[in-house]
Amino acid sequence: MLGLKLDPDQFSRVPADGVGSVTLVGGGPGDPELITVAGLKALLAADVVLADHLAPVALLTELDPDVEVIDVAKHPRGEFTAQEVINALLIEKARAGKNVVRLKGGDGFVFGRGFEEVLALREADIAVRVIPGLTSPIAVPALAGIPVTNRGDVHEFTVVSGHVPPGHAASLIDWDALARMRGTLVLLMAVEHAPAIAESLISGGRDAGTPVAIIMNGSQPDERLVRTSLGEISDVIERENIRPPAIIVVGEVVRISA
Ligand SMILES: C[S@@+](CC[C@H](N)C(=O)[O-])C[C@H]1O[C@@H](n2cnc3c(N)ncnc32)[C@H](O)[C@@H]1O
Repeated sequence: MLGLKLDPDQFSRVPADGVGSVTLVGGGPGDPELITVAGLKALLAADVVLADHLAPVALLTELDPDVEVIDVAKHPRGEFTAQEVINALLIEKARAGKNVVRLKGGDGFVFGRGFEEVLALREADIAVRVIPGLTSPIAVPALAGIPVTNRGDVHEFTVVSGHVPPGHAASLIDWDALARMRGTLVLLMAVEHAPAIAESLISGGRDAGTPVAIIMNGSQPDERLVRTSLGEISDVIERENIRPPAIIVVGEVVRISA
């Protein structure tokens, strides 16, 4: 209808020097329908796919049986493939003349370590192409009916990693500045440290009644949305058995979405 041709050959390059290439594909939040057209074309043309667990893994079953699929998941506190191992595999497969796709959840450059892979490939003299994806801090709230901005209400949003709590030696975030903000705060990788984050935001001046939405497994059949407030988030996470992957949205956009 749109004149789109899903022609995988468009993406298979015959390597002149026998060296293949790598395409970094942002797969979107997990629903296989939410990958981009370019991402899907690249995937269909791959000889080898290295996939994360938050990628649209349902698409992997659509690939030809001779496509090599390598699971390089990094589960929080679970199975973990070191980044160096992933980089080495990408280089090895490309040097073997393969058309390699690195399939990630969301967008590869948003807390995805995608740029580290680009640099490692450039260093190894391997052609690399980047296809962005729908990133979860925007797409997952949107799918749950929550806009991250709304004209006249909220004119800013900030996406923050909560993988280390406020005050941690490795934290690069100015939590006091975030507490003074009135816009939307979208927290990723923050389930474990949400109580400490909420405490820090409240002690920095954000109202304890600020509405919060927690969306687990966004875009998946088992997606769950839990509404609470900054002051109650700790109890709610415990009571509702909230587990990653989850997006936590803090701010008035949660109220207007109701
Ligand atoms: C390492 S980050 C990767 C983010 C990804 N690169 C992106 O652009 O969306 C992983 C975190 O993203 C969030 N996330 C990604 N996909 C999600 C989904 N489908 N539902 C809920 N949270 C998700 C969770 O906070 C999860 O812990």
